[in-house]
Amino acid sequence: MTDNARDIPVIRADHLKKYFPMDKGPLRRSRRMLRAVDDVSFSIAKGEIMGIVGESGCGKSTLGRVLLNLTPATEGKLFFQGDDITGLNRRGMKPYRPRMQMIFQNPFASFNPKQRVGRALMEVGRVHGMSPDAARARIEALMDMVHLPAEMLERSPSELSGGQLQRLAIARSLILNPDFIVADEPVSALDVSVQAQILNLIMELRARLHMTMLFISHEMTVVEHICDRVAVMYLGRIVETGPTEALFSNLMHPYAQALISAIPKADPDEVKARIVLEGDIPSAIDLPAGCRFSSRCPRCTEECLRSEPELVDTGRGHLVACHHI
Ligand SMILES: Nc1ncnc2c1ncn2[C@@H]1O[C@H](COP(=O)(O)OP(=O)(O)O)[C@@H](O)[C@H]1O
Ligand SMILES: [Mg+2]
Repeated sequence: MTDNARDIPVIRADHLKKYFPMDKGPLRRSRRMLRAVDDVSFSIAKGEIMGIVGESGCGKSTLGRVLLNLTPATEGKLFFQGDDITGLNRRGMKPYRPRMQMIFQNPFASFNPKQRVGRALMEVGRVHGMSPDAARARIEALMDMVHLPAEMLERSPSELSGGQLQRLAIARSLILNPDFIVADEPVSALDVSVQAQILNLIMELRARLHMTMLFISHEMTVVEHICDRVAVMYLGRIVETGPTEALFSNLMHPYAQALISAIPKADPDEVKARIVLEGDIPSAIDLPAGCRFSSRCPRCTEECLRSEPELVDTGRGHLVACHHI
């Protein structure tokens, strides 16, 4: 690989937007839009795990799907390993499909209950033109890497636990040796004790395979644990982002601070310092003018109601979008 190729990010989002039209009825008078992803830019370098964190409904899954071109962006540009893949349809995406994979939240829903799991994994190789022997060898190697016995491939999904199925889903995502993986809340549906095991497995695999990943979660502690870089999202927009250590040692955006202080602390004195999010989450359809967090922000002033803050670099790649920073 040349230096140049190494510098090209695996994925680059440039002012991405995804709007969903709200009026589907016969009288489409108002053309109201739900702004699920609203001007998001970032890139992910090879071998990096970038985290996206925010409350439910803030646009995390939509962003993941747009990055994989599973749903077309409304606006903005998308690059995969330097190639402009903006707006490519199914056919145009064909050469890229095997190089991008997704791991979903619910492992029970991601396997066909009527099919043995080994069959499901072999199917991935078959669809992408791997010989059965090569696919079998690859799957056996991956079973080892995800710490499951190869005999388990003979089982059907109902005979397996959530944790085992999620290990299988991770193995399945790696069969084609992808360059980029979107993991959409891969531990959120699992028991707490199993969550840690799966997170450790992902960290082990990333050290071994140098995976490049977008890791989506609604929990600050999870992204802090696993990601190199994190972006905090609120109603379709990144409000704070930076390298994990720099970010978590000094969270600046009131929303990010509220998210972290909502986590129960072992020390009861610390609980008093919690910032409680007030007000309802506004709808992404009729966003307030100005800062989209203004309706719930303890620091909101006139300026916040008037103009929307841009992301500003506070140093060391730690960016914050708030008028009071
Ligand atoms: N296909 C769709 N059509 C209309 N609205 C959608 C669609 N998909 C998602 N949304 C809306 O976009 C917003 C973001 O959703 P989503 O990306 O699933 O958030 P998250 O993953 O952070 O919970 C939500 O308001 C959701 O209702
Ligand atoms: Mg989601």
